[in-house]
Amino acid sequence: MDFFETVFKRYTHKTKFLADSVPLADLELIAKAGLAAPTGNNTQCVKLVILRDKKSVEELCEISPTEGLKTAPAAIAVFTDMAASKGIKNFEMEDYAAAAENMLLAAVALGYVSAWLDSPYFDDDKRLAAEELLNAPEWYKLWVVLPIGLPDGEGTRRSKIPFEELVSYGKIGDM
Ligand SMILES: Cc1cc2nc3c(=O)[nH]c(=O)nc-3n(C[C@H](O)[C@H](O)[C@H](O)COP(=O)(O)O)c2cc1C
Repeated sequence: MDFFETVFKRYTHKTKFLADSVPLADLELIAKAGLAAPTGNNTQCVKLVILRDKKSVEELCEISPTEGLKTAPAAIAVFTDMAASKGIKNFEMEDYAAAAENMLLAAVALGYVSAWLDSPYFDDDKRLAAEELLNAPEWYKLWVVLPIGLPDGEGTRRSKIPFEELVSYGKIGDM
């Protein structure tokens, strides 16, 4: 799929997925796209756990039942290794977000849909439970889980604020 077609086709799939499994090779390609993202100071602190089947996704979903994850046949959990950060600034948040966006686009390029699900892990107890389930050492932080699969029906397309309201030329407000 053409790069710009992929970018504009992406949307957050918050409803049901078909039960069809996602081949591991596709999940690995999506993960590789995530790890190809830039990282601050090149720490490469992003760590991924591929949940390759529905059972693994369901186990995670039990910790914090989430509509967007309930029916997903696969998912990728995105962590950062907090011990990897170096230098004067910690870029973990930027690093995981760059990797996540690469993976959302890679999923679309392969014909799947996905979503950025982080709110289930805003609650520290739930995040810690999810980290424990996924065997994460205590210096790993779970940021987001990306369900991946084929959509069961059309997902909701959200309207975007018009380009002209968001973009200026030269200075803010100048057209
Ligand atoms: C940082 C971030 C956090 C998000 N967290 C969630 C979430 O926890 N649950 C969810 O359903 N969608 C979540 N989303 C998806 C947004 O709701 C979605 O991107 C937004 O409504 C725009 O819709 P679109 O992605 O279809 O263009 C998140 C997106 C971002 C970038």
